[in-house]
Amino acid sequence: MRSPPPDPLAFAGAELLELETSDLRRFLRTVESAQAPEVRIDGRTVLCLCSNNYLGLADDPRLARASARAAEALGAGAGASRLISGNMSLHDELERALATWKGAERALLFNSGYHANCGAIPALVGSRDLVLSDELNHASLIDGTRLSRATVRVFRHGDRADVARQLADRGAFRRAMIVTDTVFSMDGDLAPLPDLVALAREHEALLYVDEAHASGVLGEAGRGAVEHFGLADPRIIQMGTLGKALGSFGAFVASRGDVIELLLNRARSFVFTTGLPPAVVAAALAAVAVVRDEPERRRRLVALSSRLRDGLAALGFRVGGEPGVPIVPVLIGEAGATMELARALFERGVLASGIRPPTVPPGTSRIRATLMATMSDEQVDRAIDAFADAGRALGLIR
Ligand SMILES: Cc1ncc(COP(=O)(O)O)c(C=O)c1O
Repeated sequence: MRSPPPDPLAFAGAELLELETSDLRRFLRTVESAQAPEVRIDGRTVLCLCSNNYLGLADDPRLARASARAAEALGAGAGASRLISGNMSLHDELERALATWKGAERALLFNSGYHANCGAIPALVGSRDLVLSDELNHASLIDGTRLSRATVRVFRHGDRADVARQLADRGAFRRAMIVTDTVFSMDGDLAPLPDLVALAREHEALLYVDEAHASGVLGEAGRGAVEHFGLADPRIIQMGTLGKALGSFGAFVASRGDVIELLLNRARSFVFTTGLPPAVVAAALAAVAVVRDEPERRRRLVALSSRLRDGLAALGFRVGGEPGVPIVPVLIGEAGATMELARALFERGVLASGIRPPTVPPGTSRIRATLMATMSDEQVDRAIDAFADAGRALGLIR
């Protein structure tokens, strides 16, 4: 008898098993309802404590109606890349609205934050340049930086002195660019932007900031951390996303007109991809108006974040992050214990994501709890009660 031929795809199962045995395998969960504070999963209604829908706009009827109207009037897709025939008047209108909101000369849409970072960074720096990158930067910044072929120096998280030291030794590099998240997605803390701008000025460097978790959330007009710190400098190139607080999908880079024109010509993730569909763009346009006109949503978010942060700290959990930021990381340590807590919370009606390596460094696994401005005090209190009960059951707190 001939033995069966070897399975050419056997590596997949083997590698999945490896992930599973180290508690690092990931699974999709299906949400059967709209993205509201409470969502339906497996037929059960649970409190959603892990969405980036910070302002509660993802299921706002005004965005949904704007989408529906745009789809009815203009169809389902852009049909081509923006530079071919896919540039529609809605794209222009949203870019103008984003530039005005951000106080920038121009903005350019990208199909997601991941696209923006992977396209814009390599368009701004190349093999003759130096990039200084915070050690906790988001994966899309890391990937964009790698694609640029620039020399990368990683600096200690938020460490001004380390940036200064590495910039002072800048050598013969043509350009230098500091790249950082402004609100760190897994830690909920802020980059020391005023210091970074000062260093960029001193050393004639650029500063590329990823405002994914700050857009719509920080600053009086919700423009982000750059507004929060009152900064204005042409060397700051701002990237923001539309899929988190703005409740829609996509991203943008805002800067001076000539920089945007360069991105439009050079950013491969802009040039070689189909334009965003009209329904998505229309929802984002409606979201910009809400963000601008309803600052009370940001105030509500600050109050809810403090309520959750204080409540969890009082229970004895190690809570990180910055007051006023709607990301509340609850440090656990090992991946296994973190996932056990996430499961125990789910059993108690709270969906909270366990974050493990490679998203965070080994030994720093955590529950990343996030708030929505549309949550009630009662819902946040319910989340705190679930943490108390699950934490005690697992021996994580007394
Ligand atoms: C800091 C940061 N940058 C970029 C992204 C990517 O944005 P998007 O989800 O629009 O691709 C994310 C989140 O996913 C993020 O947290």
